[in-house]
Amino acid sequence: MKAKTVFYCTECGNETPKWQGKCPACGSWNTIVEQPAETGIKTRAAGGSKRNSHDRQRSRPKRISEVETTDELRFHTGLSELDRVLGGGAVRGSLVLVGGAPGIGKSTLMLQICGQLCHFAKVLYVSGEESERQIKLRAERLDVHDDNLYLLTETDMGSMIESVLEMRPDVLIVDSIQTMYNSDLTTAPGSIGQVKDCTMALMQLAKGQNITVFVIGHVNKEGSIAGPKVLEHMVDCVLYFEGESHMSYRILHAAKNRFGATNEIGVFEMEDGGLSQVPNPSELLLSGRPVDAPGTCVACIMEGARPVLAEIQALLAPSGFGNPRRTSNGFDYNRAMLLLAVLEKRGGLMVNTCDAYVNVIGGLSVDEPAADLAAVVAMASSFRDRPVPNDLAAVGEVGLTGELRSVSTLNQRLSEVQRLGFTKCLIPMRGSEKVAEPEGLQLIRVRNIRETLAAIL
Ligand code: TYD
Ligand code: MG
Repeated sequence: MKAKTVFYCTECGNETPKWQGKCPACGSWNTIVEQPAETGIKTRAAGGSKRNSHDRQRSRPKRISEVETTDELRFHTGLSELDRVLGGGAVRGSLVLVGGAPGIGKSTLMLQICGQLCHFAKVLYVSGEESERQIKLRAERLDVHDDNLYLLTETDMGSMIESVLEMRPDVLIVDSIQTMYNSDLTTAPGSIGQVKDCTMALMQLAKGQNITVFVIGHVNKEGSIAGPKVLEHMVDCVLYFEGESHMSYRILHAAKNRFGATNEIGVFEMEDGGLSQVPNPSELLLSGRPVDAPGTCVACIMEGARPVLAEIQALLAPSGFGNPRRTSNGFDYNRAMLLLAVLEKRGGLMVNTCDAYVNVIGGLSVDEPAADLAAVVAMASSFRDRPVPNDLAAVGEVGLTGELRSVSTLNQRLSEVQRLGFTKCLIPMRGSEKVAEPEGLQLIRVRNIRETLAAIL
């Protein structure tokens, strides 16, 4: 008999009955691979239901008023930056996926929260990547030692579930999802079928046993966890841990959160003794800012409820080719192109023949329109080769007619600008009537791009 096979897209996990060059679901090319059909799933799922049969009851429809909400208990992880990204602490019985490039510090982050959690909870750290000795050495380095922290080196999902059911921890950490495998499946660990199946099993554990599960996932070179859509819809929260390899700080942000907003970021710094929290990231992001250099301006963006100052740099240079080169890093590319066009048409600067590069320092990704003005100022400053005053920041959205539009939470942004020692700030005229001038901060109210350029360059 011919062995049954199915075809998977490695990018989005979509299943098709036959091979195709282009995935019908996500549209990527050459991502469909053939895998043996997973007949094993059924047996394992059946085993799983037998295992849980004594504590599983048939669920019945309930009135919404009868549903108890006290169940959603949050607890603090001991790292307030992580709590912030999770929406105010970890939720009991939730499954959190922590993704990031290898070596960024995911294991360190997880081991560090173990140190705090085990003061009040039973924590099991399952590693398929490192030996117990390696983890112990790292724990010593991070000053984590408590009898409530248990280690298990295991890659077989079934044995791990057995250990978990036996030990009944409150918090389970799995490092990493790519090393775990279900022996009933014939595919290799890390393949899309395995990763999906293991995540499913962990989800059952989390919900069925009310265990908070943190799963580490490595991102592939495209920046997604074994095909992002595959896992994102299965878990409760997806956190990404990012940073630039040559810098010591790391940014944690949520791509999905069933229990809170996704716009908060957590900032950490990697030190010899592990990750330390950075409660005021602006200082860090602005450190090493060039003095009196053309092509840089400071913007104030909101990361959730917190204002953060970011330096936006631009380089405009005459292009040697017919088609100018344009790139942007950390700043939305289309937005940058739009701002260049506005600068040309409404600001009167002939930038269309220039190569343009826009960069946000520190690995932040800026997608808020409030950063427009700073980007435009940085571009104009580079084009004219004249520096912007060092003590100047800019906040405002730029419209297509070159007009400046008001931004939300201006007062909060201005107090952060003032706190970091800036003495001047460009703000849109419109909507600024009620804004109180913080002490020591001069507000320069401008209506449009032309006024802006006249005021400072
Ligand atoms: P790790 O947590 O192993 O990364 P991941 O699990 O995401 O692959 O972190 C590895 C890096 O962190 C490594 O390059 C060394 C560095 N590090 C420190 O700088 N200080 C420390 O205290 C620890 C534990 C790691
Ligand atoms: Mg690791």
